Amino acid sequence: MIRMKLAVIGTGYVGLVSGVCFSDLGNDVTCVDHAAGKIHMLQQGEVPIYEPGLKELIKKSTDAGRLRFTTDLAAAVRNADVVILAVGTPSLPNGEANLSYIMEAAREIAGAMNGFKVIATKSTVPVGTNEKLESLIRQHSSHSFAIASVPEFLREGSAIRDTMNPDRIVIGTESQQARELLTALHQPLTDRILLTDVRSAEMIKYASNAFLATKISFINEIANICEKVGADVTRVAEGMGYDKRIGSSFLKAGIGYGGSCFPKDTEALIQIAGHVDYDFKLLKSVVEVNRDQRFNVIRKLETILGDLSGTTIAIWGLAFKPETDDVRDAPAYEIMASLIERGAKIKAYDPVAADNFQSNLKHSRISYCLSAQEAALGADALCVLTEWREFQLIPLAAIQTWLKKPNLIDGRNIYSEEELAGTEFVYYSVGRPNMSKGVREQIPFLSF
Ligand code: UDX
Repeated sequence: MIRMKLAVIGTGYVGLVSGVCFSDLGNDVTCVDHAAGKIHMLQQGEVPIYEPGLKELIKKSTDAGRLRFTTDLAAAVRNADVVILAVGTPSLPNGEANLSYIMEAAREIAGAMNGFKVIATKSTVPVGTNEKLESLIRQHSSHSFAIASVPEFLREGSAIRDTMNPDRIVIGTESQQARELLTALHQPLTDRILLTDVRSAEMIKYASNAFLATKISFINEIANICEKVGADVTRVAEGMGYDKRIGSSFLKAGIGYGGSCFPKDTEALIQIAGHVDYDFKLLKSVVEVNRDQRFNVIRKLETILGDLSGTTIAIWGLAFKPETDDVRDAPAYEIMASLIERGAKIKAYDPVAADNFQSNLKHSRISYCLSAQEAALGADALCVLTEWREFQLIPLAAIQTWLKKPNLIDGRNIYSEEELAGTEFVYYSVGRPNMSKGVREQIPFLSF
């Protein structure tokens, strides 16, 4: 039995995963995109992004006849009760969200309307945008409709799990009809549905991402202090996290956050505040701390090797986090650019993101390798920038034999003191005491 007819506009991460999950729940879903190549690929059962489980779920729903892909927005909208807007809102050079794609989509939806529709925005948009969409559609269509803001909180790499088991669903609308329809649509996912006004729903998305980014920058600063006072940030985070008011998630120190959301949404929220004459000082610092954190990798390399000119540095991990081939705002870009600037040669490897990364950063002194071993062979130091499981499974003894010198910068704290025991590594991680050979034996508080 078909539950609801949906048109999902935009087949990026949010649109594609939401569309696929809603079809899995028994809804009839048409996913729409302007990019004909992408739609053709999806029609052939190929998936343009690397997301565990997505391909299988697409096949299941397309085979069942509940999911299809098209470039024909008008036909999809005419056939739908609910239109989900999930087009991109990338950053403009000044940090503001670029709303041209979403406004264009709204214009096209207005032109295709043939009766009452609920138009639900899942794209992350500045406060007040849904009201602008409403007046734009009203200008171009005489049909009745209701607008709602239904922000999406999925993470890449666990997108299906997050969509199917959300912590909460937020529905912001002034329309009773939209409230009822969207509650019915999301009810199979969770009982925790928060009904709000449109503006609060828009703000919840930015505030949530900004808060998570703040947690990361906070723990990264604590890590930097831990390094100086000889404490271990992983134990500090554990001790903090047991306090329910703090919570243990998003307290992993590292080389800073990247990806398609945190960098973009923090900048956008600073701009949103600025437009109403509010100086969001805390969030500005969060962004600045994040920008600087990645350069600790370079500082540590220089501590070990001195001048980096003429050295060969192995880089493991290019994606902004594991289980994704997404390289948007990945810390690896600035780290590698800075190594090139200092005259180093780079041998880089990532299990899935190398092609995407390489298309944005090419240089005669960067070679992209086909395996972790190939990248490490003969290098003066190895830097781990993404905590792929594959790297954690390689014994340190093997890595030591591949490298010219046993120098290891672990930007994600993936190796333990036990694993380092018996190796010759000069080892720097993030916010943990120096565990290099010859140093770790002298730190009594490390042996619990
Ligand atoms: C994020 C939000 O989590 C999600 O709710 C929103 O919808 C989109 O943005 P995503 O970008 O997929 O999701 O990744 P996430 O797992 O949140 O990680 C973001 C970045 O923060 C990564 O670079 C990750 O390495 C970093 N991070 C995360 C840390 O450095 N430490 C942590 O403790 C957690």
